[in-house]
Amino acid sequence: MKRALITGVRRIGYHISRSLLESGWRVGVVYKGFREPVEKLREEFGNRVVGLAADLSLWEEGKRVVEEVVSLLGGVDAFLHLSSPYEATPLELLREEQVDLHFKPIAQAFLAIGKEVYPYMLQNSGSVKGRFVAFGDWATNTTPYRNYSAYFIAKGALHTAVKVLAKELAPHVLVNAIALGPTLKPPDIPENKWQEYINKTPLKRPVSIQDVVKLTHYLLEVESMTGEIITLDSGRHVAGECT
Ligand SMILES: NC(=O)c1ccc[n+]([C@@H]2O[C@H](COP(=O)([O-])OP(=O)(O)OC[C@H]3O[C@@H](n4cnc5c(N)ncnc54)[C@H](OP(=O)(O)O)[C@@H]3O)[C@@H](O)[C@H]2O)c1
Repeated sequence: MKRALITGVRRIGYHISRSLLESGWRVGVVYKGFREPVEKLREEFGNRVVGLAADLSLWEEGKRVVEEVVSLLGGVDAFLHLSSPYEATPLELLREEQVDLHFKPIAQAFLAIGKEVYPYMLQNSGSVKGRFVAFGDWATNTTPYRNYSAYFIAKGALHTAVKVLAKELAPHVLVNAIALGPTLKPPDIPENKWQEYINKTPLKRPVSIQDVVKLTHYLLEVESMTGEIITLDSGRHVAGECT
């Protein structure tokens, strides 16, 4: 039975966790404070789900969550990193705390967990012994939009970390990312604004959760791809400028 460590299970991470559980995986899911998705998964899948509360802004929490997941699940085959604040930080009001608030759980935690989980993955059998999948953002390396500097700089570092770790952890651990476009409306964005974002995609529809789940499964099976950042965004990146 395969085992995954998944950070950030509030929404998209919940659907991915559920799908992996339906496919027979065991999952260790990391949340910061909102436990409801973990309870829902446990109701449906029982002790194949382990929930861990952790503030991934703290470097040392990376080691703790890896050790707990390995001890409870008996090892780990995949690390999926979705944890991510998404707060507007207009430049004139930007403070160090807001940079840390985004950078640490998004980029630093990927390294902190990644370096701890890698030696455990090396204990797995086969040529491919483990896989990482990070969740980035379509706009990061193309056209970042205004007022989200702390978020985009953190996601940019995450995209770089995918390439860095792909090289460091080869040949036995594969490291890839999905750079998502508009998928689920952030709670603090009004419906009409969200619709505007969707209308800017050539496909005029949000990214479907089913596609996110299918692409994640693909990246958990692929044997010949590493260091790749796949854009899944209803074509948003070819549509041109953001505001
Ligand atoms: N939704 C979209 O349309 C969209 C678009 C582009 C990219 N993405 C990316 O896709 C991923 C999932 O998106 P989503 O919309 O499902 O995210 P979400 O619902 O906002 O969930 C974010 C998760 O990050 C966790 N988190 C935040 N700070 C943390 C910290 N310091 N320590 C530990 N966990 C922390 C939260 O934990 P709690 O729930 O416990 O607070 C939550 O589970 C994210 O990486 C996001 O950037 C999403």
